[in-house]
Amino acid sequence: MTSSAIAVSGLRKAYGDKTVLDGIDFEVRMGTVFSLLGPNGAGKTTTVNVLTTLQKADAGTVRVAGHDVATETRAVRAVLGVTGQFAAVDELLTGRENLELMADLKRVSRRVVAPLLERFELADAGTKLVSAYSGGMRRKLDLAMTLVGDPRIIFLDEPTTGLDPRSRRTMWAIVRELVADGVTIFLTTQYLDEADQLADRIAVLDHGHLVAQGTSEELKRQIPGSHVRLRFADFATLDAAARIFADATRDDDELSLRVPGDGGSKALRSLLDRLGENALEAEEFSVHTPDLDDVFLALTGRASAEVTA
Ligand SMILES: Nc1ncnc2c1ncn2[C@@H]1O[C@H](COP(=O)(O)OP(=O)(O)O)[C@@H](O)[C@H]1O
Ligand SMILES: [Mg+2]
Repeated sequence: MTSSAIAVSGLRKAYGDKTVLDGIDFEVRMGTVFSLLGPNGAGKTTTVNVLTTLQKADAGTVRVAGHDVATETRAVRAVLGVTGQFAAVDELLTGRENLELMADLKRVSRRVVAPLLERFELADAGTKLVSAYSGGMRRKLDLAMTLVGDPRIIFLDEPTTGLDPRSRRTMWAIVRELVADGVTIFLTTQYLDEADQLADRIAVLDHGHLVAQGTSEELKRQIPGSHVRLRFADFATLDAAARIFADATRDDDELSLRVPGDGGSKALRSLLDRLGENALEAEEFSVHTPDLDDVFLALTGRASAEVTA
C-alpha cells in the first residue's frame, strides 16, 4: 500500500462543451487534511463527485485508498464517507431515526447512534423531526451520518458554508478530532481562513486548473499580507501621510493608503500615534486580512468573482 489516501492525475471533466476540470493533479497523504479552495462554480463539488464515484471522469486517473474509482467502485465506497454540500438527511424522520437508518444501511450496530448524537450536541434534538432543525443542526447531523461505520477517508463539501460562527467552530473542532484519530479529510471551502485553520495542504482551483498548491504558509508567501487602509480628507494629507509610511501603497483616486501590518492592537496604536505626532487625521480606518479574493488577485490577477458559464 502507498501512503497516499487520494491520488489524482490528469483529471478532466466537462459538461457538454463546458470544461469544468481541465487536467488537475494532486495527492493527499494518509491522515492529513487537504483543502480544495475555490469560489462558487469553480468545480469543487464536481471534483468531490468524481472522487467519491458519484460521477465519471472524462479522462485521468483517480485512486482512493489505492483503488481506482472508475473500476473498483465498491472498494472505494467501502472506505469513504461523504458529507454533501446540501445536507442529505431525511426531513420526515428524527435525527435519531436518520442515524439508525444509516447504521442499518452500513450494517453496523445501532449502538453507535447515541454517542454520535452526543458528540454533535444533538442529544436533545435527536427525538425531533429534522424538518424542525436549523441549518447548522442539519449540517451536524449530516456529518454525524457520515461518521457511521468509521470511514477512514472523509469528504466534506463546504461543510461550514452558511453556518453561524458557533456551529462553524464545532465543525472545526470535530474535523480536528477526526484527524487526531488518523482519518484523512478532503475538504472543499470558499474560505481562506477555514483552509488555513484546518488544512495541511491547500490547492486553489480556478477555471479548471489548480493555480496553486502547498501548505498554508507556502500559499501565504504568494499573497499580500494584512494591511490597514487609511482614507484621508484631501490630497495634501494623503501626501503627507505617504511620506511618513514609506512602505505603504497609495491610491490617489480614493485618497487612501494601504499600510502593511497585522492589525493587532499594538501595530494599530503605533500607526495612530505616528499620525497624531504629525498632526494628521484619517477620515476612515479599516483593517483588512487576506481572503479568497486576495488569493485570486495575487495568483491570477483577477478577482474571484463567481465563475460564470
Ligand atoms: N450536472 C451538471 N450539468 C451541467 N453543468 C454542471 C453540472 N454540475 C455542475 N455544473 C457546472 O459546472 C461548474 C462547476 O460546478 P460545481 O462543481 O458545482 O462548482 P462548485 O462546487 O465549486 O461551486 C459550474 O459552472 C456548474 O454550473
Ligand atoms: Mg459545490
